[in-house]
Formats: sequence, C-alpha cells, structure tokens
Amino acid sequence: MLDTAPTSAPRAHRAPGAPGAPGATSGSVAAPAAVARGVVKVYGRGATAVRALDGADLTIPAGRLTAVMGPSGSGKSTLMHALAGLDRVDAGSVTLGGTELTRLSEKERTLLRRDRLGFVFQAFNLVPSLTAAENITLPLRLAGRTADPAWLAELVSTLGLDDRLTHRPGELSGGQQQRVAVARALVTRPEIVFADEPTGNLDSRHGQRLLAFLQRAVRDLGQTVVMVTHDPTAASYADRVVFLADGRIVGDLPDPTVPTVLARMSGLEQPATRAES
Ligand SMILES: Nc1ncnc2c1ncn2[C@@H]1O[C@H](COP(=O)(O)OP(=O)(O)OP(=O)(O)O)[C@@H](O)[C@H]1O
Ligand SMILES: [Mg+2]
Repeated sequence: MLDTAPTSAPRAHRAPGAPGAPGATSGSVAAPAAVARGVVKVYGRGATAVRALDGADLTIPAGRLTAVMGPSGSGKSTLMHALAGLDRVDAGSVTLGGTELTRLSEKERTLLRRDRLGFVFQAFNLVPSLTAAENITLPLRLAGRTADPAWLAELVSTLGLDDRLTHRPGELSGGQQQRVAVARALVTRPEIVFADEPTGNLDSRHGQRLLAFLQRAVRDLGQTVVMVTHDPTAASYADRVVFLADGRIVGDLPDPTVPTVLARMSGLEQPATRAES
C-alpha cells in the first residue's frame, strides 16, 4: 500500500558510530562506497553493437540506500554489473571502496566481490542442486567463513524463509527464490549490496518487509545498498533515486516520496520532443 511507505521517517538517523554516521547534517561524509566515471559498455560489434552505458557518472555514498530507476533497456543492470566488477567496461573507471576495479585482474576482482560485496541478480542465479539454506550460506563457505547464527536467523525470519530452507530452487516460487537470493547477498554483511529489482517478484507484503529490512540495515548498521527498481513505492524507501536513460544518469532525486518519484518518471517518459541533434 502506498500510504505505508515511510516517506516521512527521519533521514538523518544513524546509529552512533555506524559507518556513514554523519558528524554534520550535510550529505557526503565518508569516502563514497562506489564511483563510476564516464563508464561506457558496448555489447556486440559493428552494426548490431549496443551502447548499454554511454558515459555513466555516478557516486554512491556510503551508508545510504540508493535506488536506480529508468526504462527497460536503459542500462540499469549493466550499470550494477559494472559497479560490482562483474563485467569489464569499455571506457571510464569504476572505483569500489577506494579500489579502482578497472586496474584489477580477473582473479583480484573475483576476490574483491567475494569479500566485499553482495549481489542480488535480476535472475536470482541460485544453484539448482543446493537447498535454500545451502544457497544462502554459499558465499560464506566459498570464503571459508562460518555464519553468524543470530544474523542468519534474522535474515531467514525477516525474509519469511523459515519453512523453506530445505527446498531446492526448483521447488520454490519466484518470490521465494528472490528472497533466498537477497539472504545470500546479505549473509556475509558485505560492505555494499547491489540488488537488481529485489522486490520484482514479491507481493506487496513481502516486498515491504524486504524494503523495511534493507532500510534498517542502512540506517541502523550503516550498510550501503544500491537497488534497481521500477516501483515508485520501493524507490520511496531510498535516501535518493538516480534515473538512467540511454546509458546515462539523467536525474537525481534526494529524499524521494511516491509522488515525487512518479512526477519525475512521467517527465522522463515524455516523448523526446526536444532532441538535441
Ligand atoms: N549480454 C548482452 N548482449 C547484448 N546486449 C545486451 C546484453 N545485456 C544487455 N544488453 C543490452 O544492453 C541494454 C541495456 O540492458 P540492461 O540489461 O542493462 O537494461 P535494464 O535497464 O536493466 O533493463 P530492464 O529494466 O529490462 O532489466 C539493452 O538494450 C540490452 O538489450
Ligand atoms: Mg535489468
């Protein structure tokens, strides 16, 4: 329901000492969690080449929930993959927590992803042969770490997965698979979480629970979250919304509410009558 979106919650609240806790009231305090500068990503070659990112510039502040919106095909997933070091870019630079990804080898990028970030894929990417519980704890096992039982229990209960832990992805609904994918991305308490439409397959109750949980992780634990969404209600949980069109950032909305997001979206969806050429 739209009216339950916490649009009037205090934005400056941070647990004392949490990373990103502002010492002053102004915006960027800590070093940014991620920065894209002039990022270009081209898929394919020649006549069929698609310029999915066309000089994208974006700074993701630490300890904030940033939403990314834009039409289908505007490059949102490509931008998330580039920021997370999942894909090489063709030009420009991507810096994650002070590390320039574009200079790292494949192996170094893999380790950085394993140790420092969580990713919720638009297509979930669960391992079909593993149960939900095994999928959730897979990143820990890969890193040779064990789960913090309290955190794992909180994730599982907040995401409503208690009675699905022994099921394999093929035995789960789309929404349940999505919640497993979210738990998997958060289980290591990574420095930054990228979530590509994390509520896309959820009903409004599960969607709101997930969003409230992400918001709490940001506000109370100083977590950094970047979330792609098509849903103005989901976006209203964020501290800021950036809008993407044709592979570039074309808008930036602080302290979004459902009406302000809708207004901005309708502006962007107007036919391009003011072409620059
Ligand atoms: N592997 C690929 N090969 C070729 N083109 C691709 C590939 N992945 C994405 N594209 C193209 O790049 C553009 C951006 O795609 P992207 O998936 O980033 O869009 P999106 O904004 O995430 O869209 P959606 O909202 O539908 O998920 C699209 O035109 C898409 O067709
Ligand atoms: Mg996408």
